[in-house]
Amino acid sequence: MSVAKKQYKRITVKSLVEMKSHGEKISMLTAYDFSMARIVDQAGIDVILVGDSASNVIAGHETTLPITLDQMIYHASSVIRGIHRSLVVVDLPFGSYQSDPKEALRSAIRIMKESGAHSVKLEGGSEIKESIKRILKAGIPVMGHLGLTPQSIYKFGTYTVRAKEEEEAEKLKEDAKMLERIGCFALVLEKVPAKLAKEVAESLTIPVIGIGAGNGVDGQVLVIHDMLGMDHEFNPRFLRRYADLNTIMTSAIKQYNDDVKSRDFPNDEEQY
Ligand code: KIV
Repeated sequence: MSVAKKQYKRITVKSLVEMKSHGEKISMLTAYDFSMARIVDQAGIDVILVGDSASNVIAGHETTLPITLDQMIYHASSVIRGIHRSLVVVDLPFGSYQSDPKEALRSAIRIMKESGAHSVKLEGGSEIKESIKRILKAGIPVMGHLGLTPQSIYKFGTYTVRAKEEEEAEKLKEDAKMLERIGCFALVLEKVPAKLAKEVAESLTIPVIGIGAGNGVDGQVLVIHDMLGMDHEFNPRFLRRYADLNTIMTSAIKQYNDDVKSRDFPNDEEQY
């Protein structure tokens, strides 16, 4: 379907719901620093996620669990300085919202106040309903996240596709409805069967953004390091690589190394 695209000067949570109602797909990518955020924003991506995947791709941890609230605020405030148009969503990190709604609200307020971000994302459904409601009540927009929720990796035991079985799929559908009902502005569905993701997207008026959730949802999100090909060893089926930065960067860095060692760099024009 070809759709006349409305030009948005700034993406807001309202624009996203509008985009869904017009049938315009929503683009979302992660970014964790000023330079990358500036490129992503200028390339026209609608939503920038300051994901807790920073724990993996920036800090080199095996899971997203170690990243702290202070570190997320540092990444988010760097991203905010690089953007003009994109909506910025920041992950509440593991341990900053699970214990009770008051703690969740305190963490969300710190992110909004100290980074200047526009919204927060929390992983989970009915278990964290009261925390989400408390954050929403304070006027902070919330994006939900269901399916594979990496902060629960030690409960799942594996990063494989979620909700393949009836019982888990039913719970996911109920949680998605609940998140819309209490006021979340959008929802990420990670690594669930495409048929289920499409059904959920069609049953909601808020946008559903997929990662490994097929093409029947309202938008797509990828981790920027993955889609730019920074790591040759990460090859999940859902990932499309749009560049091979690992090869490009390695070759440029090797060339620089050779040029320094051979005294080719700097030449007469490259000095004062
Ligand atoms: O942290 C992250 O990058 C995410 C995406 C995978 C959705 O939550």
